[in-house]
Amino acid sequence: MNNKPTFKAFRIKEIDGKYHGEIENLCFDTVAPGEVLVKVQYSSLNYKDALSSIGNKGVTRKYPHTPGIDAAGTVEVSESDLFKTGDRVIVTSYDLGMNHPGGFAEYIKVPAAWVVPMPDNMTAKEAMTYGTAGFTAALSVYRLLNNGQKPEMGPIVVTGALGGVGNIACQILNKLGFEVIAANYELAEESEIKRIGATTQIDCSVSDDLSGRPMLKTQWAGAIDVVGGNTLTTMLKGCKPLGNVTTCGNIGSGDLTMTVYPFILRGVSLLGIDSQNCPMEIRRQIWDNLANEWRLDFDPALIKKASLETLQAHIDRMLEKKSKGRVIVKL
Ligand SMILES: NC(=O)c1ccc[n+]([C@@H]2O[C@H](COP(=O)([O-])OP(=O)(O)OC[C@H]3O[C@@H](n4cnc5c(N)ncnc54)[C@H](OP(=O)(O)O)[C@@H]3O)[C@@H](O)[C@H]2O)c1
Repeated sequence: MNNKPTFKAFRIKEIDGKYHGEIENLCFDTVAPGEVLVKVQYSSLNYKDALSSIGNKGVTRKYPHTPGIDAAGTVEVSESDLFKTGDRVIVTSYDLGMNHPGGFAEYIKVPAAWVVPMPDNMTAKEAMTYGTAGFTAALSVYRLLNNGQKPEMGPIVVTGALGGVGNIACQILNKLGFEVIAANYELAEESEIKRIGATTQIDCSVSDDLSGRPMLKTQWAGAIDVVGGNTLTTMLKGCKPLGNVTTCGNIGSGDLTMTVYPFILRGVSLLGIDSQNCPMEIRRQIWDNLANEWRLDFDPALIKKASLETLQAHIDRMLEKKSKGRVIVKL
């Protein structure tokens, strides 16, 4: 009889070119020098996890695989001087859940260099309510502020404002005293716009300018863009002098076709956002901001709770684009 201790994980398996998820009991691996074993309390569901679960090779190359690009919990075994048993920690991005077994499991074993100490006044559940989406939103705001964006310069447009990154970006900007313009493909309910802290909204007739003009009348002082393509171009063309525009996504398109005029005639800056390889010093600063000055009171209606048992249904809803708000996974 095999009495080796095991733990539960949500595993995606490939059978005859088809992918499906099931809960499996896995054996513990040796924790190597420089690694930590973390008992996961919460994870969260991101679009990348949904892609990993359907065999998207741009996200995950080999199966069977445990998705989950986010995890928060407690260090159980440490083979690193950086952490000790009992430390509360957050692990997001790097290769977690992509090509390294991820947070949809009771335990993860990761390099200590990927691990962030959880701020004292933040719980694992709160950390995962932000997750990678919230971290990316906060990193976008951080980059705007570091490049000189100030509320008195004027309003900031957030594109994809009702999505994972966008809604948290709107709320943080509102908390920091910025006027926020929400940009969605179509106009949304006024109540939804108010709930995320925006004062006004625009739709794609404004945020996706098709006039072909190299510059537009200035209408905003900066932007956080998740859409890319012509929407990002429009944000740059319509930005006031010395304003900043961040780019983190390509929902609309990965292309960027425009002239240099907004940059050389208005001093507009385009700031890239890469949450995956964000340096550890900035990573810690961002989590600290989210636990303190930038802390948000989340609307419980926008947080859905999943378990390993119910995860597949949430993944299916996300792939059908029927999911709203954040899905957190309790282990
Ligand atoms: N660079 C990084 O480090 C990083 C990190 C995290 C995420 N990302 C990227 O950021 C992007 C956003 O992620 P997310 O988690 O926020 O996605 P999400 O939750 O799916 O939200 C996207 C939002 O954009 C809206 N939208 C779609 N097309 C639009 C358009 N043409 N104009 C305005 N709004 C539009 C969607 O509305 P509907 O639902 O009505 O379509 C949705 O509200 C993705 O491309 C993701 O890969 C990048």
